[in-house]
Amino acid sequence: MKNTFYVTTPIYYVNAEPHIGHAYTTIVADALTKFKRQRGIDSFFLTGTDEHGINIERKAEERGIAVKQHVDEIVDKFKTAFARLDINYDRWIRTTDAAHEEAVQKLWTLLKEKGYIYKGHYEGWFCGNCNEFKEVEAGDENPTCPTHLKALERVAEASYFFKLSAFQERLLKYYEAHPEFVQPEARRNEVISFVKSGLKDLSVSRVSVKWGIAVPDDAEHTIYVWLDALSNYITALGWGNEHFDGFEKYWLNEVDGKPVSNALHLVGKDILRFHAVYWPAFLLAAEVPLPKTVFVHGMLLKGGQKMGKSTGNAIKLETLHEHFTNDMIRYFLLREVPFGQDGEVTYEAMIERVNADLANGLGNLASRTLTMVKNYFAGQPPRAFDAEADDAKGVRAALTQAKEKFDDEYAALNFSRALEAAWSGIANVDKFITDNQPWKLAKDEAARAKLEAVISTAYETLRQVVLLVAPVLPHTAKAIWQQMGLAGEPLQFNPREATWGEALEIAKVENVTPAFPKLNKEKIVSEIENSEDHQAMATDSQPNAPSDASPKATTGTTANPVAPTEAANKPSATATTPSSDDTKPATVASSEKIAIDDFIKVELRAATILEAERVPKADKLLRLQVDVGEATPRQILAGIAEYYAPEEVVGKKIVIVANLAPRKMRGFESNGMLLAASVGENGRPVLATFGEEVPNGTRLK
Ligand code: MSP
Repeated sequence: MKNTFYVTTPIYYVNAEPHIGHAYTTIVADALTKFKRQRGIDSFFLTGTDEHGINIERKAEERGIAVKQHVDEIVDKFKTAFARLDINYDRWIRTTDAAHEEAVQKLWTLLKEKGYIYKGHYEGWFCGNCNEFKEVEAGDENPTCPTHLKALERVAEASYFFKLSAFQERLLKYYEAHPEFVQPEARRNEVISFVKSGLKDLSVSRVSVKWGIAVPDDAEHTIYVWLDALSNYITALGWGNEHFDGFEKYWLNEVDGKPVSNALHLVGKDILRFHAVYWPAFLLAAEVPLPKTVFVHGMLLKGGQKMGKSTGNAIKLETLHEHFTNDMIRYFLLREVPFGQDGEVTYEAMIERVNADLANGLGNLASRTLTMVKNYFAGQPPRAFDAEADDAKGVRAALTQAKEKFDDEYAALNFSRALEAAWSGIANVDKFITDNQPWKLAKDEAARAKLEAVISTAYETLRQVVLLVAPVLPHTAKAIWQQMGLAGEPLQFNPREATWGEALEIAKVENVTPAFPKLNKEKIVSEIENSEDHQAMATDSQPNAPSDASPKATTGTTANPVAPTEAANKPSATATTPSSDDTKPATVASSEKIAIDDFIKVELRAATILEAERVPKADKLLRLQVDVGEATPRQILAGIAEYYAPEEVVGKKIVIVANLAPRKMRGFESNGMLLAASVGENGRPVLATFGEEVPNGTRLK
């Protein structure tokens, strides 16, 4: 059997700038490819951009530029962002590539010839963000997308359909026979129950969308974006076009004389159904072997919400780069969030991980070991593995186990557990060094053999660990490797073939520099909180910020469209949220109009203030505990202290914005904001309240 590896990421929409969520899947694919290559497996890593569809067409229109110019600009941003993260993909596919377009038309023709595409008429509700028709409750005339909370669009037009219903049984049989096809298990179960609930034929063309691939022989229609986009996984390898001849090599394999694929699709859980239901159905219809696995990962969260464009709460890559190296970002994402599960990302957690595992763990092992090689052996690492050192054999045995566990877990995409195993090797040898006290042995000529054994074991463990972690920490691994006096680069050596104590040519250890700096948590967190980006991010997530229409989303300017501190201060109903250094209320310019679906995003609820106190060193802030009808009261910081004494507000019934991402101010987390009118020249806040009793938690609409 051929031994090739093919991994893909979703291709990213070009209606928003790249953020940490996009980087996440792509970093995982990169770390996986490096791992496979290090083990001698011929690998291909595909990523790219999904560039067609109504939303992208509209985005360009909003910007007043040609769609092609818009998509080119955003593609450049993605490429730059990924290059900055040291991502080494083998191909960047764009759905606007001529070769892809040609191949998608071939796929269409094939499906049509095989009788799986027919013409009809579609009436229904469409979400341009999901690029999906949605089921809507009978009688609902103003339905919204449950994911994006935006109004759905009514579509009634001629449409081609794909006979998805014909695949229900075949898909169920396939899932049954191939438990590895959808992973993890919970996602597989989700897909099975979805398919069991019944599959309807799928509308696969649009007449009202111009920015797309034309339907062969019926150019009034464009091909449905998901049929277009999913095909990228095979067109990029040269299926249906002459661009590349990788399809045979990377997609096709043979097991027991039958063609199968080794392909691995990494996808977020938000796009599970497209990959685990529609895509295999298209492939079954076209008689192309299915990918081996669709591995579904969780979402990176902030304040419990998925980070992304619609919520405006995504961590910006520039902010990360300012404070963390690539290796730190990669390590954190792979170690902290078990792959497959959702994970909250905070700067605090990142810094703690970096300090504990990288600066103290790996970094400290490297510098203490190499410093001892320099000081006690004139820089020439000893290779003495026979002499007795307390528990040297134990360290070696534990490392062998850790290596095996690392490989098993990593290959199963349990990156967090794999790294944990590697770090257990580090902890073992650290203890071994401390127990043997080489600094004492170095003072005793008679203990020279033991000292050699201790340092040999420490150095050898470090070498083996560096080989293991290289796919995740490519820069650091290389830097430590060079300091160790070892030839080549760690990614060139297969850890499975690196035998313990093997003969090596090792140059002298000369300069020992720390692999990771220790990060100052308070300083970094406060710098980030006060940064322009963070302020802009907080504003984006506020209901009155035109987040979707903001030029920031498409042009990359970091200007804050309605910074609370600078906005005009008119007497009008105002959402009062204090910024870190100024508590003036913000207002939306009265000329600015929003759509109803923008308003629907804002969760306004009735609440009662239970407690209130001043915040030390912040004249304008009150720290409130409010009852919003939840299990426990919420803490909200409000910039009203100049006008309201704490005792005055306790017991007041107020209105709060309940779905605002949390913000930290003066060390306190604020989970929402209260509404107040901003009256007079000074913008005196007058709290919004009710004329009659309303239970806490009641939603205002
Ligand atoms: N264009 C489609 C995918 C087509 S694939 C044939 C699309 N694009 S997207 O730009 O919205 O990107 C979706 C993918 O980005 C997710 O599936 C996931 O891989 C990644 N992520 C975006 N936000 C994310 C988080 N907050 N957390 C983790 N991953 C996230 O859907």
